[in-house]
Amino acid sequence: MALPTPTQDTTAVVTGASSGIGAEIARELARRGHGLTLVARREDRLKALADDLAQAHGVRAEVIAVDLTDADSRGELPALVEARGLTADILVNNAGFTTMGPVHLSRRDQELAMVRTDVEAVVDLCTIFVPGMVTRHRGAVLNTASTAAFQPLPGQAGYGASKAFVLSYSRALGAELKGTGVTVTALCPGPVETGFAEASGLSDEEASESLPRFMWVPAERVAAAGVEGLEAGRPVVIPGAANRFGALAGYYAPKSLVLPLLASQHPALKKARRD
Ligand SMILES: NC(=O)c1ccc[n+]([C@@H]2O[C@H](COP(=O)([O-])OP(=O)(O)OC[C@H]3O[C@@H](n4cnc5c(N)ncnc54)[C@H](OP(=O)(O)O)[C@@H]3O)[C@@H](O)[C@H]2O)c1
Repeated sequence: MALPTPTQDTTAVVTGASSGIGAEIARELARRGHGLTLVARREDRLKALADDLAQAHGVRAEVIAVDLTDADSRGELPALVEARGLTADILVNNAGFTTMGPVHLSRRDQELAMVRTDVEAVVDLCTIFVPGMVTRHRGAVLNTASTAAFQPLPGQAGYGASKAFVLSYSRALGAELKGTGVTVTALCPGPVETGFAEASGLSDEEASESLPRFMWVPAERVAAAGVEGLEAGRPVVIPGAANRFGALAGYYAPKSLVLPLLASQHPALKKARRD
């Protein structure tokens, strides 16, 4: 069992817990008796989830509203957890978003915010929280990557590269930590209906154009697979058979064949060509 046994004063820090996959991961952990520290920017949504989890599962659920693009705010997280008398035994780096469209039409501030959230915050929070776990010989880290990690992704170039980073980083960190009592799992979902596509300016219908329905997995199932993978100490979890096949195909197929196909089919690139 790779998941630490929950106690009164241990907590699972879950970023991106205000919606979608992160909220469902928090639910899965609460169901197993883990206290939660819910992190994102939308405090009202975090508070509503914290109340829900405390009521439904009798766990302690704390809320810390933070913009993870801000290094100083991120740096305050351990002190804020400690001030609540808690020790972070589980870290879930799940917060993230994507930009869509060709790089030459992208906005610099959005591209940088994406890299800060999807890459920099993951590295930072692992660097901040993992040393204590190693000292205590107990801990588990779940980093949300994506099937976009398995090949470059024209139309979401920065996002695909960010998730490839998260996958590579998680695997390397997991290998370093072997035998320390701390495990690392990279969760690599395919498409999930969470409002994630919409947040990038693309409707779920537009996103569905290039991603057939059988690839879509509900957020609850993605979260359940992630937490089961964490329990089993699996290095990589890809929810859904179609997504496992797609990830393998994307990884092994010659990029000279795959990339023109992806570039021709990506809905945001099609849209840019039409406009
Ligand atoms: N949905 C998919 O198809 C899909 C597929 C593969 C991987 N993923 C990955 O899954 C993870 C969760 O995405 P989701 O689908 O659940 O989307 P979502 O519902 O839009 O959730 C994204 C979460 O990230 C948080 N977040 C974004 N920027 C933040 C910032 N600057 N500071 C703090 N929190 C921030 C959001 O909270 P606030 O807005 O309240 O800050 C929200 O809780 C992401 O890493 C995403 O890349 C999603």
